[in-house]
Amino acid sequence: MKKVLISGGTGLIGKELSKRFLSLGIPVNILSRNPRAENHYFWDIDKKLMDEKALEGVTHIIHLAGAGIADKRWSKERKQEIIASRVDSADLLFSYAQKLQVKLSGFISASGIGYYGATTSEKIYTEEDNPAKDYISNVCIAWENASKQFEKLGATISVFRTGIVLSKKGGALQKMNTPVFVAPIGSGKQYMPWIHINDLCDMYTMSVTESNFSGIYNAVAPEHQTNTNFTAILGKMQNKLVSPVAIPATIFKLAFGELSCILLDGSRVSATKICKKHQFKHRDLQSALANIFK
Ligand SMILES: NC(=O)c1ccc[n+]([C@@H]2O[C@H](COP(=O)([O-])OP(=O)(O)OC[C@H]3O[C@@H](n4cnc5c(N)ncnc54)[C@H](OP(=O)(O)O)[C@@H]3O)[C@@H](O)[C@H]2O)c1
Repeated sequence: MKKVLISGGTGLIGKELSKRFLSLGIPVNILSRNPRAENHYFWDIDKKLMDEKALEGVTHIIHLAGAGIADKRWSKERKQEIIASRVDSADLLFSYAQKLQVKLSGFISASGIGYYGATTSEKIYTEEDNPAKDYISNVCIAWENASKQFEKLGATISVFRTGIVLSKKGGALQKMNTPVFVAPIGSGKQYMPWIHINDLCDMYTMSVTESNFSGIYNAVAPEHQTNTNFTAILGKMQNKLVSPVAIPATIFKLAFGELSCILLDGSRVSATKICKKHQFKHRDLQSALANIFK
């Protein structure tokens, strides 16, 4: 009998994923700093505390917890919080799972396409490529490395280097979809690897239900879109004015500081590896947005 524990399961992806597992008859526990429901369990990462009941009968851990990467300017403290909420939290999960001798079949972690760095180029990055050397790639390296310790518990490890998750319930799309008009930003040439939340949830589900599933996968749709094209398609689908003039990069740099690099730069990321395992419901942006805005 499978049972899943989702850290950060109260967020955009976790909520959708919980519904999926419950619809498949797979029970779900959720780790949260503010438990609000019967299947929610408290943890405090700084104090290294966790409600042990969260791990009772758990066969798979899905690690989604993390301070929002694009939610606040990257001050020194925020940078530390972004890393600690992903890495110290994984360490805490490991120490409790080890202490309680949990028989874990799988540990599945979110990661980001930021692994390949904030760079605009025509290169298509695959899972075999080396990470970049900037802050965001360092976050992803540390995040992914933290998952490796679960091998010691006999678990298989899966990692999803996730693109921009498209959902009607929040996330990047809500921020881009301003009321009157939409506008490209900076050069507009930066690529925006994206994925429909349903495809992403299919992947997480598969990592639990398929016994031979493991490894690192880029969780992005096969279609590559630049910021200019993305904005044009979004505007068309929402009958909104598409500004012919991009918002200058300097405005983003002033507003967001260093964080602006992940908005102003981006390369293509390959979906070839995950396509061998998963049949996408939404391969192109038009189909994804049509489904979201229907
Ligand atoms: N959404 C995307 O476009 C996207 C793209 C690439 C990667 N990802 C990654 O996928 C994971 C899930 O994404 P999501 O969109 O579902 O995120 P989300 O909506 O922001 O939810 C993340 C959850 O993490 C917990 N959390 C937030 N700050 C924390 C902190 N300082 N310490 C510990 N826990 C904290 C929160 O749960 P509680 O408040 O209940 O504790 C929150 O509900 C994240 O790690 C994210 O970086 C997301």
